[in-house]
Amino acid sequence: MTEQDARSLLAQHGQSHVMKFWDRLNEAERAALLAQIERLDFDSLARMQTLLNAPVETAGGNPTAPHVIEWTPETYAEAKARGEEELRAGHVAVLVVAGGQGSRLGYDGPKGAYAIGPVSGASLFYFHTRKIVALSRKYKVRIPFYVMTSEVNNAATQAHFAEHDYFGLPKEDVIFFVQGLWPALDGNGQIILDRPGHIFMSPDGHGGTLTALDRNGCLDDMEKRGIRSVFYFQVDNPMVELADPAFVGLHAAKNADISLKLCAKRDPYEKVGMVVVREDGRFGMVEYSELSDEQANRRTADGKDLYFKYGSVAIHIFALDFMKREARKAMPLHIAHKKIPVCQDDGTILKPTANNGCKFEKFIFDVLPDADTVVNVAFDRAEEFSPVKNAEGEDSPATCRRDLQAKWARWFAAAGMAAPTLPLEIDPAYALNADDLKAKGLLLRELDR
Ligand code: UTP
Repeated sequence: MTEQDARSLLAQHGQSHVMKFWDRLNEAERAALLAQIERLDFDSLARMQTLLNAPVETAGGNPTAPHVIEWTPETYAEAKARGEEELRAGHVAVLVVAGGQGSRLGYDGPKGAYAIGPVSGASLFYFHTRKIVALSRKYKVRIPFYVMTSEVNNAATQAHFAEHDYFGLPKEDVIFFVQGLWPALDGNGQIILDRPGHIFMSPDGHGGTLTALDRNGCLDDMEKRGIRSVFYFQVDNPMVELADPAFVGLHAAKNADISLKLCAKRDPYEKVGMVVVREDGRFGMVEYSELSDEQANRRTADGKDLYFKYGSVAIHIFALDFMKREARKAMPLHIAHKKIPVCQDDGTILKPTANNGCKFEKFIFDVLPDADTVVNVAFDRAEEFSPVKNAEGEDSPATCRRDLQAKWARWFAAAGMAAPTLPLEIDPAYALNADDLKAKGLLLRELDR
């Protein structure tokens, strides 16, 4: 793209100010700016501008709670057997979304490299990848691991895996793909520059997964490998039962487009999304903030439970065919008001103390209404969910390590072994669950810390 092309494209979309520092830029800065402009998606930009002044959407209508499957020993055993067949046949891939900025955690590096191991200090990526190693060994199969990064953390993420020899997975089975970046807009719909000649960009949300998979050839790669189901999860939850065979089996048996694991909410206002059946009969996800007080507190007919009892924590399985159908559709955009550094007319940078601009994101669950068959299955939060979101307090490294160790301690009890002293850690490649631990005997790593 030439300077002239850039100027006319920007003028056409009312964004000429992006070039205002051009004369002050050196060759490298100019090239970088032209590359940024070339990658701007002006169709999405136009959609962002219309969102700026749109009223906040609420759930509207009268959504109802979906059917949520609760396991019995029999249904669990049946689904597990089916899932094990799927795994053995090499039909399952694993996908982690790790392109987020981890701003609440405030960790300087990709969140997946955060040292969560209570004894070893091993990273979140270590725990995830070692589970895949364990499943690969157990089912004598190659399980590809797709890792979504963003331009902001891609190099550091790849370096972390390389430095640790891919945690024991063959290098060619760890596939990194980079999600898109979007500009932010000020209240007038103008692209924000965060320094002279540089457009502020941030990741386009976990909903960017599908476009990014498609653009990077990952959907074709999955197809070539014979994948049918893609287990999807977020990087910050080391408790996840990755590619849990019963979940995989249920998804396959029901021929679902999407399957979701849901857990009982802590309280009516817990900040999780809820799967609902909309008035038009399609599935959808409703944010906690979109429910009225009455909806949030509604009880079941017997009064025992919340009517909207379950929340989603982004543990899903997608049918590859469904992902392919969805990959090129325009997803809804979500707006977030943020503090964004701004380059002022004199070239100085203002770090605002109040929200001054908007970022936009796509959310993966917005594909739900397009799914014909959706399976919702309940899971026990204590066993499978304790995310690292904040530096301190709830959902922090401390609560996550506490929950991990409590889970591992329960495995010892289930195996009839003495309760271990803390700190305690079990390598997922040694034992993925209580049964594995029982079968193998005791691994207890205790260190004086
Ligand atoms: P969160 O929004 O909870 O985490 O994303 P975050 O972005 O890492 O941290 P904050 O919000 O800045 O504190 C949930 C999951 O979605 C991924 C994250 O990496 C995390 O696994 N994600 C989020 C992406 O992959 N891309 C995005 O653009 C946003």
